[in-house]
Amino acid sequence: MSVSEHHASAVDFSCLSMPKAQGLGAVQARLVDRIKRAALQRLHRSPRGERLLLRMYLAGEDATERALLEQLLPQSPSWLERQVEQHLADERRHVAMFAEALQLLGDDGAIRLQPDWLSRRKILRWQRLARRYAAHFEHGLLVPAYATGLCAEQMAERVLSRHCAVIGAGHGLYPLLSRVLNDEKAHVRLCENTLRRIVAPHETVHLAPLLKDIRRVDASFGVTGALAMYLAGWVFGGLGGTAR
Ligand SMILES: [Fe+2]
Ligand SMILES: [Fe+2]
Repeated sequence: MSVSEHHASAVDFSCLSMPKAQGLGAVQARLVDRIKRAALQRLHRSPRGERLLLRMYLAGEDATERALLEQLLPQSPSWLERQVEQHLADERRHVAMFAEALQLLGDDGAIRLQPDWLSRRKILRWQRLARRYAAHFEHGLLVPAYATGLCAEQMAERVLSRHCAVIGAGHGLYPLLSRVLNDEKAHVRLCENTLRRIVAPHETVHLAPLLKDIRRVDASFGVTGALAMYLAGWVFGGLGGTAR
């Protein structure tokens, strides 16, 4: 039986779900969430702040699109190609939607932001993990690529859920953010299902620590990222909403 045909239902894949933070980790997660909620509120006070938020999303969607094109598509077996292309089409639509929203706010979106310094550091550390773990899987780098993709989509779900909750359904950006949120939730399920198919039962002992390491890298940037966002909130939103 090939790796992709094995009966995943009998295997323990509980490591795919986000573990509930405990102890100090839970305190840190609550702190990060509170700082980011406060930062969002501040950034929404000015058009410049809102444009910064949309640019951050645009950079994230752009990076996801590139990762799919450059990392997932070339190493995907033929039975996965259609799924990756569909995923790519979703992310390209997100790029177009954020670029259009930016234009409506007076930003032509022509200059694409590179992922910020913190995100680039995070991506580098994820790539190092991918190379370290690839040898443990029959599908090689494809498994760490999907594991990282899963954690990134879970992060997108968390970020967009928080943002939707902060601005509420009456806000002008809510339809855009909630639509992208629904797609990201579908992408979380897609990454989970793919990992269930490409990881052989005896390889799950390596999948669990891989996901743990990927999430540890993500968490290690949590407080720094939240403080950077809060600082941006003060810079762009702190003067009470007239800055452009
Ligand atoms: Fe997306
Ligand atoms: Fe996505």
